[in-house]
Amino acid sequence: MNAERVGVELGERSYSVLVGRGMLAGLGQEVRSVVDARSSRAFLVVDSGVPSSQIDALSGSLADAGFVVSSVSIEPTERVKSIATYERVLCAVASSGHGRVDPVIGVGGGIVCDIAGFVASSYRRGVPIVQCPTTLLAMVDASVGGKTGVNLAIEGGGLLKNLVGAFHQPRLVCADAAVLSSLEPRQMRAGLAECVKHAHICATVGHPDLGGWMKEHLDGIARFDGGPLDELIARNVALKASVVAGDEFEDPGAPAGGRMLLNFGHTFGHAIETIDGVVPVGRCYDGSVVGLLHGEAVGLGMLAACRCAENLGLCDPSIGERLKATLDTLGLPARAANLPGTGEIIARMGHDKKAMGSTLRVILPTGEGRCAIVEDAAPGAIAAGIDSIRG
Ligand SMILES: NC(=O)c1ccc[n+]([C@@H]2O[C@H](COP(=O)([O-])OP(=O)(O)OC[C@H]3O[C@@H](n4cnc5c(N)ncnc54)[C@H](O)[C@@H]3O)[C@@H](O)[C@H]2O)c1
Repeated sequence: MNAERVGVELGERSYSVLVGRGMLAGLGQEVRSVVDARSSRAFLVVDSGVPSSQIDALSGSLADAGFVVSSVSIEPTERVKSIATYERVLCAVASSGHGRVDPVIGVGGGIVCDIAGFVASSYRRGVPIVQCPTTLLAMVDASVGGKTGVNLAIEGGGLLKNLVGAFHQPRLVCADAAVLSSLEPRQMRAGLAECVKHAHICATVGHPDLGGWMKEHLDGIARFDGGPLDELIARNVALKASVVAGDEFEDPGAPAGGRMLLNFGHTFGHAIETIDGVVPVGRCYDGSVVGLLHGEAVGLGMLAACRCAENLGLCDPSIGERLKATLDTLGLPARAANLPGTGEIIARMGHDKKAMGSTLRVILPTGEGRCAIVEDAAPGAIAAGIDSIRG
């Protein structure tokens, strides 16, 4: 198969991320090579947004490799990323006669990959998962690293992101950039936000070149040009792979922050992502836009974190100014309308599972390509961050 192979080095749980184009139609043998020889079935958890031609190509290749293929389709939203959907998929997997050695295969965006992974982590106490991410965000982030899960709806209508889940590393990830041709531009831009996040931690995690490379190719990246896009995916997968390899289970005591650094922008972002009525403000967004996408919320969260860090004297204002300019070039919002009161947002941040007990942990920038974990940041600084993204 003509693909770049990025390794995720985790001892006996090591695996490859294939990065290339047109790979789904030949994936059957690759899947065969990472599962038990007795495996006879494959179960696809399919994102309803992915063109059926791609699913047919993958199913055909799996059949050629000797798998009996079954599937279930999910129309993904954060509300659908739920225990109810998890149960629906589990029941479909069980009804298909899926065995202990048979792979579940997630084919979709981050929501579908997270649900498929969680199903695979728990069905018969764990079966193999192969991830075929079909959004840019899922390719550079969600499909790599083994974090799986669903949201929890609590009394009062709030949605707690990814509160229930498991670590379950894939056997194989196939990031086929050809699949992105059907993805809406707004979804592409949301994926770019996670790449910008990586650029902001790159020096701390040993990939100091990523920020400079992205800056140099920013216009091509903003146009989704094939060459820069493919290299962007490979470089971002490599960064994520090495962070995961150094801290598989997001150890709170990991030296220099480990995997927790990948949450830059997320504590602020998660708190505003699922609030009904909150919409991005900017030239790319008209009144018809419903809600914030995950990547958009992360972009806004990074801006809030920059202002918070600035307020605490941790970084120069130029870091936030440059981030804002980058988001603007990429067509990502710098402000959101209809945000609730600052106190309510801080309370929601406290709910975030990354908060430890009563201590609110945020990831804040400390310099170019550098971030650090900060415990108990002053509420005034957090409020300044939130207020800086009000539209
Ligand atoms: N597990 C992790 O480590 C991790 C990391 C980052 C994000 N996430 C999660 O990922 C989710 C966001 O993922 P996302 O941004 O991919 O959004 P998503 O899963 O909601 O997908 C976005 C939209 O694109 C559609 N789509 C998917 N592939 C398509 C294709 N090829 N062509 C046309 N349409 C297509 C989907 O149907 C959906 O409407 C969030 O729930 C977030 O919490 C998880």
